Amino acid sequence: MEEQTGNDREMSSEATQENLAEEIVQHLNNPVTDIKPIEKQYLGNIRSVRKEGNRFYFSDGDAKVEVRIVSDEIIRVRLAPHGVFLDDFSYAVPEVDQKVTVFRMSEDRERYAIATNTVTCFVSKENFHISFADNVTSQVMSEDASPMHWEENAEFGGYYVFATKKCNAEENFFGLGDKSGNFNLRGRRFQNWNTDAYSYGWDRDPLYRTVPFYIGIHGAAAYGIFFDNTFRSYFDFGKEDESKTSFWADGGELQYYYIHGPHMMDVVKRYHSLTGTHQLPPRWALGYHQCRWSYYPETKVRDIARNFRERRIPCDAIYLDIDYMDGYRCFTWNKKYFPDPKKMIKELSDQGFKTVVMIDPGIKVDDNYWVFKEGKEKRYFCRRSDDYYMEGHVWPGRCQFPDFTNPKVRTWFGGLYKELVEMGVAGFWNDMNEPAVFGSGTFPNDVRHNYEGYRGSHRKAHNVYGMQMVRSTYDGLRKLQRNKRPFTITRAGYSGVQRYACVWTGDNVASWEHLKIGNIQCQRLSVSGIPFAGTDIGGFSGEPDGELFTRWIQMGVFSPFMRAHSAGDTREREPWSFGEPFESINRKFIELRYRLMPYLYSVFWEHHRYGFPILRPLVMLEQENISNHYRQDEFTFGDKILVCPVLEQGATARQVYLPKGQWYNFWTNELLQGGAEYNIEARLEDMPLFARAGSVIPEYPVMQYVGEKNVDELLLNVYYADYEVNSFLYEDHGDTFAFEQDIYLEKKYNVRGDDRNLYIEQAVEGLYTSMYELYDLRVIGLPFTIGKILVDDREVPEFSMDEKNCLRFKTNRNFSRLQIIAS
Ligand code: GLC
Repeated sequence: MEEQTGNDREMSSEATQENLAEEIVQHLNNPVTDIKPIEKQYLGNIRSVRKEGNRFYFSDGDAKVEVRIVSDEIIRVRLAPHGVFLDDFSYAVPEVDQKVTVFRMSEDRERYAIATNTVTCFVSKENFHISFADNVTSQVMSEDASPMHWEENAEFGGYYVFATKKCNAEENFFGLGDKSGNFNLRGRRFQNWNTDAYSYGWDRDPLYRTVPFYIGIHGAAAYGIFFDNTFRSYFDFGKEDESKTSFWADGGELQYYYIHGPHMMDVVKRYHSLTGTHQLPPRWALGYHQCRWSYYPETKVRDIARNFRERRIPCDAIYLDIDYMDGYRCFTWNKKYFPDPKKMIKELSDQGFKTVVMIDPGIKVDDNYWVFKEGKEKRYFCRRSDDYYMEGHVWPGRCQFPDFTNPKVRTWFGGLYKELVEMGVAGFWNDMNEPAVFGSGTFPNDVRHNYEGYRGSHRKAHNVYGMQMVRSTYDGLRKLQRNKRPFTITRAGYSGVQRYACVWTGDNVASWEHLKIGNIQCQRLSVSGIPFAGTDIGGFSGEPDGELFTRWIQMGVFSPFMRAHSAGDTREREPWSFGEPFESINRKFIELRYRLMPYLYSVFWEHHRYGFPILRPLVMLEQENISNHYRQDEFTFGDKILVCPVLEQGATARQVYLPKGQWYNFWTNELLQGGAEYNIEARLEDMPLFARAGSVIPEYPVMQYVGEKNVDELLLNVYYADYEVNSFLYEDHGDTFAFEQDIYLEKKYNVRGDDRNLYIEQAVEGLYTSMYELYDLRVIGLPFTIGKILVDDREVPEFSMDEKNCLRFKTNRNFSRLQIIAS
């Protein structure tokens, strides 16, 4: 593991924008702790076994292991080195037990076997090895290479805890959330310790978030391991010994979930069943967002807004970074720069812009500042082991930090957003919540936390601090905004953070390498349970040229979160900053995001309701094809659009792999056979995109912001296929929770073609009423000339062929069955 160092810097007084911009603060890593070889203790032979409901307890006479059936496909394992389990509490998993159906235990001479309907957990009597096998194929998916083990921690009490599994020769690994190297994790070692990793590079570790969840694939089948431990944790995927995969942590309990596949998609969906999915965001959050450190004073903000509208480049949100505050005091305004924020926000809103502002965890030590006074009086700030305040320097100078692991503190802090919400601020951006402290990197280990009443030092709470901060923001907004969906962004997080916020990948760099890193990072976050993610388009530090910025915008169209952001010491970075031809190409691609809005929104719904990831890497589409375990720069958005970002400077074409099936080139409508590689033209104004044959992709007219226009007719792009494909369209109010009372529409289209017919069936669920009456159908790739079209057995009187040779006709939105028949 490479040790990262940073230049320490003390921030003694209030930082000014100028000196921050000049020097760009050194964001520091905590040095990697040495792993001292202390004597390890291992589980011995099994001496007793006991069953309690869906839990089985095995003991070697001293240590105890609990095996708990969570569902047919998920089994949890816990270790108590001296027989006493810790409190069963997790920030990641709100409810452990799912639908527990039938399970039974049997034993033979060598081992116990606990079988659900789909998976069997074996516990070997002799050496306490635990393994999991598929009931149908008998394939052993995960198997201990040595018994679970531990080391006493003399300094803090408790144990360092370890698990070591066999790593199969052909096995590859994916997941772990926030890592910056290759998508496939095999042969590498990682650690999780949320870190402010300013200008990180390829393979720098750790980064901002902790997701101790990985997926293994071997013999064409997938499984997952979720090591739910918030302490600093480590994963080794065959690096130290290529036949072993290990995970361990500096404290806490050895507790992990085995999650059965056999498909990688099943594993991810089941991981979501434990840790939750992302809430449905307000629809405007899917638009293009423009950010910078910082837009101020308000004339600058107005200027940015005016430029977007005059240049006809769509945009939904403008961000205010730290300089909108008075001396970086959260929940205040710098009245010199923003004399009447409410008026400005209203003006922006009248032009269709949402205002998003930053809130950091560091609260300035200042007895004349109400937030500090309240927090101090209520004893809501973190304290050191001997009860002295935890103080550290961040943007405002000397700060104290709310203990967000205390539910009372979260309620208090969540309420502080009231005034900003009343002024019309529509979204909140929580930054620096690893938590980051200048100089020391983060809090010292001895800082105490409430940890929902279970208590713990910073060693235990560090990795959940950011998640609990944004939880406080999210919950506060849910109360303050009543029935309106909150929009929140966080930098740090732990597994489950997706229930409260979307994320961006932190302080990246304007380089081609970072375009590649970001592409992989968003896919990795997506399969690790954090689907709503994006990079700082253009790169935070450094200067992109027009080409790099445009290629980044193109990829950004298919980042679930699409936001351009840049550091204060860089040149202006808006979609028009590089002149022509870049401005026009940027416009074309941002417009594409808005044209695809009904599709993107439907994919978010599929995630929220069913737990499908939003971005799907090729390995997830075809895990049985080993080449796909190494292909990392293409993905699908949902399952209908294949995206092949252009990641090389000066490229005019790129190699793409099309998964099995048939694909239409999105730009030319050319039909290509999948299961093969192609060289596709990719001049600067193009990025290779493909639509899966059989898809129905809904399209809106270009809008300057979400909801600008009413849609009277919905354009449905139907891509002919000679096989059967289902598509979704989701619709609702766009920013309320009425969908929880069934006020939504989920439309399902089934498309099926043969050489003389194309059938489209529609089924509708939910009580929402669409704003349009008609569908405008555009059928691509029909292999026959059209004789007639029947909609619910009535013939369509008029149809035509457009300039791209696509069939066009209109029909009422309420049809159930549509048939296009050859002449
Ligand atoms: C951190 C954030 C960055 C932000 C800056 C100033 O570096 O990661 O996005 O612009 O702080 O608030």
